[in-house]
Amino acid sequence: MAYDLPMRVFLGITGASGAAYGGRTLLALTAAGHHVGLCVSDAGCQVISHEILGEGPRPTSRDHVMDRFLADHCDPAGSVDVLAPDDIACSFASGSSGARVALVMPCSTSSLGRIAHGTGDNLIHRVAEVMLKERGQLVLVPRETPASLIQLRNMVAVTEAGAVVLPASPALYTQPQSVDDMIDFVVGKALDVLRIDHALFPRWDEAGRVEA
Ligand SMILES: Cc1cc2nc3c(=O)[nH]c(=O)nc-3n(C[C@H](O)[C@H](O)[C@H](O)COP(=O)(O)O)c2cc1C
Repeated sequence: MAYDLPMRVFLGITGASGAAYGGRTLLALTAAGHHVGLCVSDAGCQVISHEILGEGPRPTSRDHVMDRFLADHCDPAGSVDVLAPDDIACSFASGSSGARVALVMPCSTSSLGRIAHGTGDNLIHRVAEVMLKERGQLVLVPRETPASLIQLRNMVAVTEAGAVVLPASPALYTQPQSVDDMIDFVVGKALDVLRIDHALFPRWDEAGRVEA
């Protein structure tokens, strides 16, 4: 069952490779009419600059990166509040705000570690902490491979605390035709966990085939 519209969803984009996962998620959520609180970490900004804008990993201005990123990844059907990583006074940073859905996508191993150990130092970590203490929904999307024992233990710790770890692992059984298809598969799986409606990938039907 899907939630009613519109939802308040927090989206954290950290500095793991795979900024496009965050971008496609932002587009999907806003196109579906949701209200998104978006926070991009400093490292996330660097990776967006490199991977999405093609301007290298040392941007001269955060505003420039965010302006270009938002121009291509927001749909007017929804709305976006852009939140600074140090804006720990924003509503999402408090359990009393009532927001109960958050994604960190992609999630760096460094942010994963901070969330796992409750030693956050920015808004993304704080929102994750709030989701865990309030028993909200938290989806973390790491990309790193291979995984060290420390990273695997951190994944276990956040899972035990109530988060869902959803590695950025695109399936091939859907017969993706493009990189976008592969990205959309991961984004769609995250939205499935949060019970947010989408049509980002074909469903596997009862006869064992994907829908056209
Ligand atoms: C181009 C680029 C790609 C990176 N890819 C990854 C990655 O896939 N996974 C990861 O955990 N860290 C990756 N990093 C390192 C993180 O950005 C770094 O650990 C950073 O401190 C994470 O900070 P954050 O969690 O606040 O965003 C990458 C950095 C750069 C510049």
